[in-house]
Amino acid sequence: MKVCVIGTGYVGLVTGVCLAHIGHDVICIDNNENKVNLMKQGQSPIYEPGLSDLMRSSMESGRLSFSTDLGAGVNHGEILFIAVGTPPLPTGESDTRYVEAVAKGIGANLRGGYKVIVNKSTVPIGSGDWVRMIVLDGLKERLGVTQGEGFTMTEEVEACFDVVSNPEFLREGSAVYDTFNPDRIVLGGSSDRAIAMMSELYQPLVNRDFSENKSLPPVPIVVTDLSSAEMIKYAANAFLATKISFINEVANVCDRVGADVTQVAKGIGLDSRIGDKFLQAGIGWGGSCFPKDVSALIHTAEDYGYSTELLNAVVNVNKKQRVMAIEKLQQELKILKGKVVGLLGLTFKPDTDDMRDAPALNIIEELNRLGAKVKAYDPIVSQTGISHGLSGVIIESDASMLADGCDALVLVTDWQEFLDLDFEKMAKVMKQPLIIDGRNFLDKRAIEELGYRYVGMGR
Ligand code: UDX
Repeated sequence: MKVCVIGTGYVGLVTGVCLAHIGHDVICIDNNENKVNLMKQGQSPIYEPGLSDLMRSSMESGRLSFSTDLGAGVNHGEILFIAVGTPPLPTGESDTRYVEAVAKGIGANLRGGYKVIVNKSTVPIGSGDWVRMIVLDGLKERLGVTQGEGFTMTEEVEACFDVVSNPEFLREGSAVYDTFNPDRIVLGGSSDRAIAMMSELYQPLVNRDFSENKSLPPVPIVVTDLSSAEMIKYAANAFLATKISFINEVANVCDRVGADVTQVAKGIGLDSRIGDKFLQAGIGWGGSCFPKDVSALIHTAEDYGYSTELLNAVVNVNKKQRVMAIEKLQQELKILKGKVVGLLGLTFKPDTDDMRDAPALNIIEELNRLGAKVKAYDPIVSQTGISHGLSGVIIESDASMLADGCDALVLVTDWQEFLDLDFEKMAKVMKQPLIIDGRNFLDKRAIEELGYRYVGMGR
């Protein structure tokens, strides 16, 4: 099928590349010319495992191209994905101005046959109908109809497109894998024609043709109305964030009573009603989705006169959790002024270069406030030299350099390669061998055998 994806951030680019890989004819549109030029040369502007290879092979097969020309994209696609950012405003609401600009642009370029316009961006509940209205506004503008002229859409124009909500659930760092191995596909909309076209688009994924485990039953498609599909995305992320805040709260109680939260998580996770995922206690959740989506849901509820007691608590627990590592440093080192603290990892989670709302940012800020000197080593940030606008931290090029002269190390991100670090060598260059394991990631006993004082989160 002919597809146009507008916006080449994490969601848009991964969607475009993966749809091309499963056989569709895809054009990805972005208004950032430098980014488009980079992608035209087969280079991915984001770090995402497996993405660059798929991107290049799809480009070679002629099924994937990039352009800044929205009109050409709209003309090409029978399915048009809106996948631009909806960053949080200071109020916690989503900033939908990019979605609005794209919807208007689609309307202004709408010609030819029937098209499905897909909301892939995480948009506030109710945005499906709003997008439809904006597209019609763009179309009216092109047709030269000014406000107040009593313009009525002909049936033909009204029927030339439908809006569908199709939220994504991919995780950064495993976005390609998640796209080929979805747990479900959610399609929200009222048009049978649009839902049928979307189902056809995803058929290879539904059949698990590109999945790691082809013997699994077909992927369920959940068809809902527009608002329910939009709500599914918020509720899924809010539930996962709640699970993490819950286990972090349990970890804090474990710390006080001398229990081990990793054992508790195992014990409760084996109950199939609870499940073992997202029960890893640590310094809390971050990234581009959880913080934004949880606050947007809280905000929407408030708009409709409902106060979300549980979700407010989920956010507050997470705020406290981020600086819990510092409380532990204070317990161990007492005064932090003049102490040197080395952070292992900076990104909000491993296998990504994303620093958005990363717990590391709060930890650096708080350590600076308390007068400590902060150094950091992160496999991606150190390698790429991308500063991410970080201040108050010295970026070291490897873990030994990081350890040199440190009073303590804090493991902030659970990068797999940290398991293979030479902690014995690192202990020798530290002022004192102390590790705060902010992700309960390291082998406590093995680390202690090397002479470290090991402090985990609730263990
Ligand atoms: C999340 C959702 O998982 C995904 O479905 C949605 O589409 C986008 O948001 P992502 O932001 O990539 O994906 O990260 P995820 O792997 O879910 O982790 C989010 C945060 O929670 C990270 O900071 C991670 O370190 C933390 N986390 C996760 C925990 O602290 N404990 C856990 O058990 C799991």
